[in-house]
Amino acid sequence: MLVLQGTQLKDEILKLKKEKDIVILAHNYQIPDVQDVADFVGDSLGLSRQAAKVENKTIVFCGVHFMAETAAIISPNKKVLIPDLDAGCSLSDSITLEDLKKWKKEHPGAISVGYVNTTAEIKSELDYCCTSSNAVNVVKAIPENKDILFLPDMFLGSYVAKMTGRKNMYIWAGECHVHAGIKSEDVQKKLDQLSDAEFMVHPECGCTTSVLYDVASGDYNNRQVQILSTEGMMNYAHNSKAKQFVVATETGILYRMRKQNPEKNFIPASEKAECQYMKMINLDKVYSSLIEDKYEVKVPKPIADKARLAIDRMLSIS
Ligand code: 13P
Ligand code: SF4
Repeated sequence: MLVLQGTQLKDEILKLKKEKDIVILAHNYQIPDVQDVADFVGDSLGLSRQAAKVENKTIVFCGVHFMAETAAIISPNKKVLIPDLDAGCSLSDSITLEDLKKWKKEHPGAISVGYVNTTAEIKSELDYCCTSSNAVNVVKAIPENKDILFLPDMFLGSYVAKMTGRKNMYIWAGECHVHAGIKSEDVQKKLDQLSDAEFMVHPECGCTTSVLYDVASGDYNNRQVQILSTEGMMNYAHNSKAKQFVVATETGILYRMRKQNPEKNFIPASEKAECQYMKMINLDKVYSSLIEDKYEVKVPKPIADKARLAIDRMLSIS
């Protein structure tokens, strides 16, 4: 069997996707090689929008399983492939369908808002879906007098509650092990060493709550602190005049940041912030996916039809 490597493998992937009319979507946390062969690299919201927009009949989704499921739900006439079926997500695993049904029963009449990092089954039970870039606006769109069940990320939930001033929001105690692991101590150490650096934080981070508190109490003095989704970080990095940034999220995003802003310096808040699920996808698996049409992500129609309502609401709010 012919074993392809490096540039040859990349070239073969680029050739195959053209021949087979396949589009490759990759999340900002994918390894550099995978980002290089993708047609679009972006955050959860951006990739969902691309999945709906592209005309290709097949999408190879280089990200984690819930993202490929979301693409399959909003594009029921397209074939969605994921190069590794085991690419899961600790955050989406933090709530089960039974948990959600029980929680909803305990709060009759409440509106359920779920982060896009959830399974299709969970989405089918939600009123609204949201991503880190539009969570605040989704909650703002819900009448003040309605109780809200927000799930599954507690740090994003607390951030949204703080930003909207909402008092009637119940928050599920789930977390992403990668972002929860970025602690205030890690961040403080880096910031102390870099007095000129601006600071970008993903709202899933364990340090988000204390960062908000510190910003409110003036602890960051004049330092610019931004709480942003991964694509929000990309845009901010590009538009800011600063030359140095401490970045609190999964380290995969640094490749694209450095590539697009070669004159700027990006420092991870924690070098350990790596998502092993995102890193399961590599060029060999992308190649197999293109050659063998694997692994197709299918969502049963009754679940997809219900989940699509919540996802469509997410896509309509920016
Ligand atoms: P965004 O790219 O939407 O900011 O989400 C980050 C994330 O953790 C995806 O798993
Ligand atoms: Fe899930 Fe966290 Fe990995 Fe994102 S970084 S895919 S939330 S485990």
